[in-house]
Amino acid sequence: MAAPHIEQLKKIRNDITRFMMTYKFALQEMETKVEILQEEFHLLHEYNPIEHTKSRLKSPESIVKKMIRKGCDVSFPSMKQHIKDIAGLRITCSFVADIYRIRDMLCNQSDLTLIEEKDYIRNPKPNGYRSLHLLVEVPVHMSDRRENVLVEVQIRTIAMDFWASLEHKIFYKYNRSIPGHLLDELKDAADSATALDRKMERLHKEIQQIKEERAADDMQIVPEIVIDNQLFKLPAALLNLIGDGKPAGAGE
Ligand code: GTP
Ligand code: MG
Repeated sequence: MAAPHIEQLKKIRNDITRFMMTYKFALQEMETKVEILQEEFHLLHEYNPIEHTKSRLKSPESIVKKMIRKGCDVSFPSMKQHIKDIAGLRITCSFVADIYRIRDMLCNQSDLTLIEEKDYIRNPKPNGYRSLHLLVEVPVHMSDRRENVLVEVQIRTIAMDFWASLEHKIFYKYNRSIPGHLLDELKDAADSATALDRKMERLHKEIQQIKEERAADDMQIVPEIVIDNQLFKLPAALLNLIGDGKPAGAGE
């Protein structure tokens, strides 16, 4: 086969960029969604259920390798259809309950479609792997078109993440065939991570309860709020509003 002409190469480069770009935008959309949840929690509850997030685009090289491994023909429509983790977002939470809270909050958003869910927390993999995997479809609006783009979201605790990154390193170090004793020890470590998650969650609940009791004891509400380092004094008229945004005493 003759080498592609320079103009042809330019076109291919452009097509690949256009293809990858949609996944980059979908990741940005997802990141913004998570940032908003994070900030809302911070402003309202002084508590952050998300430790950190990390996103990555699969390299064209890895995409092609996976296509060949799966026996798919190498074309853009086939990539879009068969490779479901081109855009990946990992959300690391503090506690297991937070994982499901984040899951529910994301799934309740009307512009997100949950395509597939794998709960490796309720059903861990035999090696001990735990995480919640969501495959979501995000609409991306560009200058001349709208595309629905798949993003693989992995939600896990710090302990699950710690275990998975070590297991990943070992897996590649031994070229995917890990010696038996290491497999046993990894499974054992996964059980310890599960036990740690349970213990931390129990401690957290206990601490939260004490905090709430103390807060109820010395209830002192200052008539001001801070958003983005801006301090807003609250006018008396607003302080009369009750939970539903109506003035106090204006019930049905
Ligand atoms: P592939 O996407 O082809 O790997 O298959 P799948 O879609 O059936 O995979 P699954 O949803 O189970 O897992 C996808 C991703 O989860 C992987 O790319 C990893 O990032 C992570 N993962 C799944 N299983 C393991 C595991 O045993 N160990 C570690 N470290 N990560 C895992
Ligand atoms: Mg996958």
